[in-house]
This record gives sequence, structure tokens and C-alpha cells, in this order.
Amino acid sequence: MSNAKENAALAALDFVEDGMMLGLGSGSTAEIFLEHLGERVAGGLRVQGVPTSARTAQVATENGIPLADANKIERIHLTIDGADEVNPEFCLIKGGGACLLREKIIAHASERMVVIADDRKMVDVLGAFPLPIEVDPFGMALTAEKIYQALIKSGCEAGQTVLRQKKDGSGPLVTDGGHYILDSRCRKIPKPADTADLLSRIPGVMEHGLFIDLADVIVIGETDHAKVMEL
Ligand code: A5P
Repeated sequence: MSNAKENAALAALDFVEDGMMLGLGSGSTAEIFLEHLGERVAGGLRVQGVPTSARTAQVATENGIPLADANKIERIHLTIDGADEVNPEFCLIKGGGACLLREKIIAHASERMVVIADDRKMVDVLGAFPLPIEVDPFGMALTAEKIYQALIKSGCEAGQTVLRQKKDGSGPLVTDGGHYILDSRCRKIPKPADTADLLSRIPGVMEHGLFIDLADVIVIGETDHAKVMEL
């Protein structure tokens, strides 16, 4: 599996050009990409990166990748990021690492998005991976009920919604933006665009993990090669 992530990360380097402003994704596959990008930077490649999480900022810095302030840039040429699930229409579930809000801000602002993932992430129908939804802590129970209704209305086989906890068990996980994450067990999301639309209308939802019409290229890593799919 790590070979698969490695192969996807390596193949994504082909999309990086000298002088680019890059959106830097989060998660283990994105971090492998950062290690290889750092090697290219050490070899003379001139790029800057906008990190999608505090963790990515740290890893990028450790690998010698110059960072840019998201509030001071004019354009992002390319974003490279991982995914938790990818369907044949290039719809994604993201947010397994709790970075979905910043990931979506950067992906949406990018001229191109390349998604890197191992082959286990390709699915026919999204939803086996619980859908991460970033919510404001205020009135969270009310928001959770609205989320459940939105999922059912858009045809999901919605089940339990779980408040994500910190790994050390000391309380709810707090995102870089100061919000909580609800993981919704949808099982099947047959109409991702409908679900995304309904979730976006709920005031307490800061962002949801459905990425629709954002990915331009999907790079699926397998044990001995990577498959590149473009829209
Ligand atoms: C971070 O919030 C996520 O969107 C990640 O991009 C996603 O969870 C993929 O992570 P891995 O590369 O670690 O599987």
C-alpha cells in the first residue's frame, strides 16, 4: 500500500513546473509528495506552496519547500492533494485528516487540482468512508439533525453521525479553523452533487467533505506503477 502511495506521489511531480504557486494538500499521501517535491526544490526547482494545514506547513518546511501566505497570493496554479474516496466522475470524499475546509478553499482557488491516492480509494459509489463534515460547535446537535435530514433527502443510506475525538481521547478534535468534525456514516451517497448542495445550505456546516467538480486529474497509485486519469 505504501508503494501505491509512493507511486501516486511520484507521478504527480510530472505536473509541477518551474515558477508555480502550489496548493499543498494534507494527509499521508500528500506528505510523501512533499518529500519528493523537497528533493526537486533542493535540485533547483523554484516553486512556492500554500499549505492546507498546520501539519502540512510543518512537513513542507522540514523539506525545504518555500511557503506563501494564503492571504497574499494572487493565483494558485496547481494543487496536489490526497483523497479518502474517488468515484468514476472524479467526485471525492476528503477530510479524513480533518483539513477539509482549508483543502477546499485552496482547491477551489486553484487553476488545476491533481488528486493522488492509492488504488483502495477508487469506488463505484461514494459513502463507505464516513463523510467528514466540519461544523461550528454552537448548536451542534441542531446542526447534526439538519445534516441527517439532508443526507436522507438526497438518497443516502444515512446512519450514525459521530463527533470526531482527539487521538489521545482528551475531547473533541478541533480543526485548524477552530471547528468540530462530525463523521456521518452515509454508507451510500448516490447523488453527491445533491447531497453537497443540501449540506452547504445548513448554517452550522462550515464545510463538508464532498469535493465536486474540483479534481481535474486523478493519479491512482498501484504497487508497481501509477495510473493517470484526466477529465
Ligand atoms: C485530509 O483532511 C484528507 O482530506 C486527506 O487528503 C485524505 O484523508 C487522504 O489522506 P491519506 O493520504 O492519508 O489517505
